[in-house]
Amino acid sequence: MINVRRCKWEDLNRVLEIERTSFNQPYDRNVFIYYLMNESERFLVAEVNNFVVGYIISSILNNVGLIISLAVDNKWRRKGIGKKLLEVAFQQLSNKVKRVELQVRVSNESALRFYLNFGFKIEKRIKEYYPDGEDAYLMAKDLDF
Ligand SMILES: CC(C)(COP(=O)(O)OP(=O)(O)OC[C@H]1O[C@@H](n2cnc3c(N)ncnc32)[C@H](O)[C@@H]1OP(=O)(O)O)[C@@H](O)C(=O)NCCC(=O)NCCS
Repeated sequence: MINVRRCKWEDLNRVLEIERTSFNQPYDRNVFIYYLMNESERFLVAEVNNFVVGYIISSILNNVGLIISLAVDNKWRRKGIGKKLLEVAFQQLSNKVKRVELQVRVSNESALRFYLNFGFKIEKRIKEYYPDGEDAYLMAKDLDF
């Protein structure tokens, strides 16, 4: 069974392990420390049998919800864990914003499929969004009321 709860300080190393095995250019430890200190309500982990298998960080800027980062341990993918994390993040955002946005690398086909499946739409392509020069898609989903 998948349990989603707030991230704790003692989860940090495990979250970093998932981050570093999920992205070629992972976020630095300091990024996670910032969100643990400042947005701890919206920094969530998913666990199975008390083992952390994924995380999501969301935020709010100018009345828009943002998915800052989301990753699932590659041994635990395609089991509904990413979807569950996104659902809980949406529940948290639902009474505060009307729209949720995110950026995804144009080459990240699995994430693109995942977000399209969840109801996100590609709104535009942002040239050289990433430090290595790759473009991003801006994806957005309006919340239903
Ligand atoms: C994107 C990611 C978080 C998805 O997590 P997940 O737990 O595997 O996703 P789910 O099992 O909840 O998938 C839900 C649905 O999304 C779609 N989907 C997910 N991964 C997919 C893939 N690799 N290919 C095609 N469709 C996919 C499917 O429709 C899936 O439903 P199904 O398995 O019943 O067909 C995961 O692949 C990941 O951590 N990727 C690396 C990090 C990353 O790219 N994060 C997003 C950056 S913006």
